[in-house]
Order: sequence, then C-alpha cells, then structure tokens
Amino acid sequence: MRRIQGRWAEVAFPEAFMDELIARNDIVSVVSGYTVLKRQGTRHFGLCPFHNEKTPSFTVTPEKDLFYCFGCGKGGGVVTFIMEIEGLSFSDAVYFLARRSGMTVPDREEDKTARMRARILRLNLDAAKWYRANLGGIQGRAAADFLKKRRITPKTAARFGLGAAPDSWDSLINAMTQAGYTKQELIDAGLAVPGKSGGLYDRFRNKLIFPVIDVRGDIIGFGSRVLDDSKPKYVNSPDTIAYSKRRSLYGIHLAKNTKRSDLILCEGNIDVLTMHQAGFDNAVATMGTSLTQEQIKLISRYTKELVLCYDNDDAGMKATNRAIELLSGSEISTRVIRLPQIEKDGIRVKVDVDDFINLRGRDAFERLLLGSENNVEYLLSRLREGIDFSDDSQKVAYLRKAGELIAGLASPVEREVYSAREAEAAGVPAEAMRLEVQRFRKARLKTAKSKREREALSPARTVQPKERAIRYGNVRSAIAEEGVIRLIANYPEFIERISLEPGEFSSQVLEKAYEVFRAAVREGRPPGISCLEGQLTQQETSLLAHVLSEPAEIENVQKALEDYIAVIRSEREKEAAAHDENALTAILREYRSKKGYGG
Ligand code: GTP
Ligand code: MN
Repeated sequence: MRRIQGRWAEVAFPEAFMDELIARNDIVSVVSGYTVLKRQGTRHFGLCPFHNEKTPSFTVTPEKDLFYCFGCGKGGGVVTFIMEIEGLSFSDAVYFLARRSGMTVPDREEDKTARMRARILRLNLDAAKWYRANLGGIQGRAAADFLKKRRITPKTAARFGLGAAPDSWDSLINAMTQAGYTKQELIDAGLAVPGKSGGLYDRFRNKLIFPVIDVRGDIIGFGSRVLDDSKPKYVNSPDTIAYSKRRSLYGIHLAKNTKRSDLILCEGNIDVLTMHQAGFDNAVATMGTSLTQEQIKLISRYTKELVLCYDNDDAGMKATNRAIELLSGSEISTRVIRLPQIEKDGIRVKVDVDDFINLRGRDAFERLLLGSENNVEYLLSRLREGIDFSDDSQKVAYLRKAGELIAGLASPVEREVYSAREAEAAGVPAEAMRLEVQRFRKARLKTAKSKREREALSPARTVQPKERAIRYGNVRSAIAEEGVIRLIANYPEFIERISLEPGEFSSQVLEKAYEVFRAAVREGRPPGISCLEGQLTQQETSLLAHVLSEPAEIENVQKALEDYIAVIRSEREKEAAAHDENALTAILREYRSKKGYGG
C-alpha cells in the first residue's frame, strides 16, 4: 500500500499526462478485460474480480471514471484498478496503462518539483537578505524602532535574520526581478500577490519580517508583523512548494541545538525572540496555528520532553488542552507552564511569556519552569479551580472527576500518590478518594474487557461500506462532508460559491479530496476520483469511490451545500466545547500506553 503524505511530495506525473492517460484508458474497457460488465442505466454491473461472489455487486460508472464494489468495498479509478488487479505500485500501474494505450511516460514531475523548490529557497534567501539590509536603513526605521520598543536587541534580530519590508507596493518585486527571478517565481514563493487588475504587488509591506528557517537552515517562508495596532497583526507566507505550516516550527533551527533537555512551545514569534534572548534557546512556536501531528513528529526528533507555554487567556488554555490531548498519543511527555496574571499599571492582566519575561525577568521564568506541572497535575489543578470546597455538592462533583482521571493512571503508585494528594486538597478522607478511584477503575476494566471480547469475536476489519463509520472521528460531520464532496464532483461550479475551507473538515480523506477538487476546478479540470489517483491509500480511495458512486441528482444544490456546511460547522463547535473532556480521557490513555501496564 502506498501512502504519500504532504501536499507537495505527492506530485508524481504531470496532470495533463494523467488526464490523457485516464481518458485513453476507458475504465469500462480496461475492467472488461477482467470481468464481464452489463450496462444498467449510467452504471455497468459485473461479478467482482476482487472477491468471490455469485450475484454482481461490482459497479463501474464511466462518466465518473470510477469502480466500486458494494460487496467487498473496493473502489477507485482506473489506475487504482490496475494497481489492485495486477498487484502493481502506482507508477508501475501508470506505465502499464501508458503501454496499453501507446503513450510515452514523460519525465517524472518529481525532478521538476525538486528543481523548483531549490529555486524558491534561493529566492527566499535573497529576499531575506534584502529585507535584512532594509532594517539598517531609512526604509526599515519603523521596524527597527518597533524592535527597540519590544526590547529585542540587534544581536537577537541578527540571529533570527529579522528584516523590514518597506512601505511600498513593489520594491521587493523590483529588487528580485532585477536579481533574475521571474514574477511567477515570486508568486510561487508567496512573496508576491497578483492583483485583481492584473498587476502584481509585494505580499509584505511596511512590516517586520521573520524568516521561517527549517532544521537544515533553509528559509522556507516568512512571517510578518504590523508595526502599529492595525489588523491583521500578522501576515504570513501561504503554504508553498517549499513551505508547509503544519510541518514547521518557528525557531527550530536554533532550538534544535540547545543544551537543555527539553523544548518549550510558545504561541508567537515575539515570544520565541524574547525567550532566546533571555537564555531559553530551546523555545519554538507554532505561529498562531494549533499544534499538528507533523510538528509533534518534528519535535520528537530532538527531544521527548516538551513544555507547553501558551498565553494564560482562554484561547491559550484551550490550546493547551488540545495540545495535551494530541501529545498523549505520542512518546513525548508533557509539562505545562502556567503564566500568572501580572499587575500592570495597577490592574491584573493576562500575559504571554514575552510580557512575563519583560516584566519579571528570566530568573522568575526559570522558577516557573522548575515548578511546572506535568500534564496530570495540570489537569487536576484545573479541575480544582473555581470549586468551593465548603459546598458539599461541589466537593462531590470534584471528587468524582478527579477520581475518574486518577483511575486512568496505569501505575498503582501514581494512583496512590495522586489520590492522597487530591483528597488532602479537597479536605476529604483519603479513603473516600481511594474508593472513588476504585469504582472508576472497575468500570474501566470492565469496558476494556468487553471491548477486547468484541474485537476477538469480530473478524479483522474489512472495508465494508457499513463499517466505514468506524474510520470517521465524527460521523455526523463526515456524512455532511461526504455530501459536499459528492455534490461538488457533480456540480463543480458550486465550489467557488461556498465558503467552506478545507480546515473545517473532520475527515482527512474528505478534506484532501476537497482541496484537490478545488484546485482542479480552478485549473478548469473536472473534479473526480481521477484527480486523486496515487495520492491516497487503497482504503481511502475505496471510501471515496463509494461516496462518489452514489447518485447526486438534486434540485437546489446551493441550499443542500449550505445545509451540509451548517452541520459541519455545528459539529466543529460541539467538538471545541468537548475539548476539556477529551484532554482528560487522553491522559488516561497515555498513562496506560506509556507505562506499559494493563488496564
Ligand atoms: P505581540 O502581540 O506583538 O506580542 O505578538 P504575539 O506573538 O504575542 O502575538 P499573538 O499572541 O497575538 O499571536 C501569536 C502568534 O499567532 C503570532 O506570533 C503569529 O504567528 C500568529 N498570529 C497572530 N495574529 C495573527 C493574524 O492576524 N494572522 C495570522 N496569520 N497569524 C497571526
Ligand atoms: Mn505577545
């Protein structure tokens, strides 16, 4: 099975070639080489060549270039069909079909992509040097003043390669085209933006510039901040052939060389600058987006200990819970720093780590670091907050929640320690807490047992359509997402009329399909399974084939899409509300897997 990750790594053959290959290898005639098909309306039916059956449940829909078997759940486009039936890799299947239809396979686009990427990295480097040079001149005066005001020293600015974008529409474009780069390259690098009237202008204007540097030292993209209070505060490069936000961390090029044993994850660019300047050269930031699996993987290449240091506002706490949850599935152990509210001009305010260090100093931060709680302590103390322990019903509710959390810890020693500690904090006998923990523990063991039994009874999971639901994290949302995908495949013109963003999807496969379909429509190609060949696993392809093989005749497409989008959004909101809960559950899971105890 071939799984290709990332948006850019997956470019394999030129799109025009793939389009022609698929057009020349009519799926009905290809499949007919392996099974007899009979036409029924818009579909062709036959006995499935992938599993034994007596009545035909295998379908081919030529107008959508796809096959799908309702019996075994296999599905995909013509390339997938050949991969599966001939046991070939994706590219071998492409060669197979090319030979079948007398086409020559062009140079792999991968080489071209690598060349383009190298070129963009060169351009980024030259642009960064140019921005940096501005910082010393009149053009960069405002940015230099801003740095001074934020107490960022020239030395720190130099280490991070900070620069200034002048207050001009096209000075970077002019400088870089003079240096030999094309306008297209500037657009591909995300440095220039095409205007509505056909013009081209600099993406970053009148900004402080933060080059984003990867572990190899390449400048992969840029962040930028306004120099006053205007909005948006930050403008960042879009994802490009060289830059994937999900995979990068601001400051990692320096933090990877730290002598400290851990990494500290903050929220913002300025936080990272201040931290490094104060001696915490292990700080990195996600640049305002929530932590991703890819970033966790990147972190775990350098350390197995992460300290979360998000802002102490609501958004920061939510982000902390979310990060704890995600990290609990990794081998990284997590601690959490809680920034205190600080008195500023006589009022207590919520701060970020940049404020904290500037107001309290580096030693105070070192103490916070020493006193940081591990994820269990953090979640327990969050539970304690706002509880009136003189009120019996609140006390009981608290004991219940704490008991449940502690019951999930795999180590008996830890269960004992935390039980005693929490009991004392709540002013109840330790025995009461122990009983509560035991009660939850029994319930957990019982659930775990029946789950194991269920799994033992059911045969290995296949890709039966009826079992597809188990793959979705949020079935309600996913069904609406399927609806969107199906409608868009049938009515591509509507994709530009809806506001749904890929990030709003709950299912990764459907999100990917949506992104690829949108890109296809913008290039004037029909969206469908063919656009995705070679980019998904076999199971994902099958799932999509199933979604697309269902008919989508409908009166009011716009209305239907809006209804689906409303469902997707309301599910996202519900999930956000459930995050606190999930963080607890995740902790339980983590302790079981990490300590390797049963239960
Ligand atoms: P200061 O307010 O100057 O201290 O910056 P900060 O780093 O504290 O910013 P904040 O906590 O508001 O945001 C954290 C990070 O989110 C920033 O460093 C940016 O990377 C990102 N961010 C903030 N605002 C925006 C925005 O409007 N657009 C985008 N794309 N990113 C943002
Ligand atoms: Mn800040």
